[in-house]
Amino acid sequence: GMPMHDSMPMNGMAAMHAPSSSPDALPPAGQPLATLPRLANRSTEAGTFSGVIDIAETRHALLPGAPTRLWSYNAGPLGPLIELNAGDRVAITLNNRLPEETTVHWHGLPVDPRVDGHPRDAIAPGGSFRAGFTLPDNLSGTFWYHPHPHGLTARQVAMSLAGPVIIRHRNDPFAGLPESLLVISDQRFDRDNQVAAHTPADWMDGREGEVVLVNGQYRPRLDVAPNETRRLRVLNACAARYLLLSLPGATLTRVGTDGGALARPETGLSQLLLTPGERTELLVTFPARVGQSLQLVSLPYARGKMMQPEQTAALPLMTVAVADRAPAAAFSLPAQLATIVPLGRPDIRRRVVLSERPMDHRMAGGGMMAMMKNMFLIDGRTYDMNRVDLSGKVGQIEEWEVVNDSHMDHPFHLHGGQFQLIARNGKPQPPSWRDTVNLAPRASLTLRVRFDTPGERLYHCHILEHEDLGMMGTLAVHA
Ligand code: C2O
Ligand code: CU
Ligand code: CU
Repeated sequence: GMPMHDSMPMNGMAAMHAPSSSPDALPPAGQPLATLPRLANRSTEAGTFSGVIDIAETRHALLPGAPTRLWSYNAGPLGPLIELNAGDRVAITLNNRLPEETTVHWHGLPVDPRVDGHPRDAIAPGGSFRAGFTLPDNLSGTFWYHPHPHGLTARQVAMSLAGPVIIRHRNDPFAGLPESLLVISDQRFDRDNQVAAHTPADWMDGREGEVVLVNGQYRPRLDVAPNETRRLRVLNACAARYLLLSLPGATLTRVGTDGGALARPETGLSQLLLTPGERTELLVTFPARVGQSLQLVSLPYARGKMMQPEQTAALPLMTVAVADRAPAAAFSLPAQLATIVPLGRPDIRRRVVLSERPMDHRMAGGGMMAMMKNMFLIDGRTYDMNRVDLSGKVGQIEEWEVVNDSHMDHPFHLHGGQFQLIARNGKPQPPSWRDTVNLAPRASLTLRVRFDTPGERLYHCHILEHEDLGMMGTLAVHA
């Protein structure tokens, strides 16, 4: 067990951090970036998508030596890309062949809560579930699906259950550009090449695997044409690792957030923070000289004042090499990408506070996990599946002020679709559609949202360990 002191202050946590050991062997680097397989559409009807996902244990030769047992969507390591069009009628059959219950949550999509993978709707081992939903006509962007069973989400995602969704729209300003989807995940292996078990420090800070993967590959290589402008869709599928993306030698232009295109591009970015669960769409123009190469890296980021960054130097994620190809034609960036109609005056205002209870030996009686179960709070409480924390009404505009009253960063996520980020720390923000936004310690954000379907929606910290420990609440939306 872990040594307990009389009243362990929050800043004792850094001391509890076991130094992250680098694995003895690493997967091979520098392989051409793989494209994830697409989920096959079994429907021949226009505007309809019907697919089947088997959720099962599989073995993968990730490291030299013994194969790694993973849990996979359609054999994995990552789930297939589900590529849809705005307005599609979708039905995905989920077959649970795992030895335990699971659910599949459609992160960022405005689906009916009854098919959104709520922990109450667990699919038993051997069971199946058909998730049917219709996409809005005006929705496009990069989304994802992952498990959401009660208390088991972090472990199941660590076992590799996660997959991307792309929704395309006929008014896509970048339809003609080359495009890469980068699903970034991380992994930690034990001595037998298996997915390492969570440690107490993992539960506290969130688990960061030392081996960071792009599309399931270790430091792959992407070949581009000279002078090429490419769209990169990036999904942070890590449980807790913050990505401070940077591409030294090129600047980043952000053109989209979780819920699709920004109204106006943000140009000249030297770095961009992408927290767990978040997606971004970037445009990058690569150099003109054949043979030149760049590194997509993640820069060190301290998740709160008391925490040491997990890394002290830039962490390479992927190499981009300018290949000997016909140079790309110059690309001109439109000034206006999309129209984001602002959600107007709110009908309801709420204030939601994220906090932590300081560790105290008096609570340690029930053991470490019991104590940690009461550590990460929303509005002073731990998640209870049978409790409604907030009530709302279909069609009403809600304004939430979300405040972080804790010592570390938490990415705040709300189920059931996209919200508009209105302000950060009181400062108005350019219009964007989001479903996951970081909150630094003492930070606040203001968001506006409207739900069109009744039912229960969850809101939680997207550090999956915090979610499992109960940093989550229920909003009941009434008809
Ligand atoms: Cu991606 Cu409730 O989460
Ligand atoms: Cu979600
Ligand atoms: Cu958190």
